[in-house]
Amino acid sequence: MRVFAISDLHVDYPENLRWVEELSFFDYRDDLLILAGDISDLVPLFRKTLKLMTSKFNRVAFIPGNHDLWVRRNRISDSIKKYNIVEKVALDCYVETKVFNAGGVTVLPVHGWYDNSFGDPCSRVRSIWKDYTHCAWPDSYELGDINNYFDSKNIYDLPEPEDNLKISFSHFLPRIDLMPSFIPADKRILYPLLGSKSIEGHVRSIKPSIHVYGHSHVNRSVKKEGVKYVNNAFGYPHEYRITAKCLKKIHEI
Ligand SMILES: [Fe+2]
Ligand SMILES: [Fe+2]
Repeated sequence: MRVFAISDLHVDYPENLRWVEELSFFDYRDDLLILAGDISDLVPLFRKTLKLMTSKFNRVAFIPGNHDLWVRRNRISDSIKKYNIVEKVALDCYVETKVFNAGGVTVLPVHGWYDNSFGDPCSRVRSIWKDYTHCAWPDSYELGDINNYFDSKNIYDLPEPEDNLKISFSHFLPRIDLMPSFIPADKRILYPLLGSKSIEGHVRSIKPSIHVYGHSHVNRSVKKEGVKYVNNAFGYPHEYRITAKCLKKIHEI
């Protein structure tokens, strides 16, 4: 069994959807795919993509990204309801959304949301970041409550074989020092919206060999304190310099 990772498919772009459609139906039949969020905000397209992936891979593990929880183009009142719909579609498509063991590997999703623990977003970022207008939260919610809601989903009560390799994954970044030094200053204003330190708290208690993350659209593989952190976002079509636009094999048994 091989384990592949990808995130940020953003299949609203026809060329991105075409790439998913053109993946082999035969080459990955014994393999596991970790899909780390941001497929599409449109439920039919989201469902179509999950179905395509489960028809090609033996097992598919998924965690929602912020785009998957956008409600603006749906008749759904808030992003908590959207999360429940996304979760149900994933289950309907036989996609794993909770911790599971497969062929010597334990796969552990780590939920979360950005919560200003990487810094405070400036007024310019607040005016351009689409989550502020495309997500909707219950009236009583403040930013920390969003992360707390998703953090409460991090339940790891499945007994795992002792010699299993542990692979955790999140959509958002567990630590901001995963961003490479070449990122220009005008892009760094987005850093407060990239992740949460609470995700890293779960990574440290899980102690995985590998942690897969998405969201930044900056492909990277870097080892920090014994954990290999991997980003293999597919990204937007114009992001050809920071994304490889292919599956990344992260483990093989
Ligand atoms: Fe994305
Ligand atoms: Fe994202």
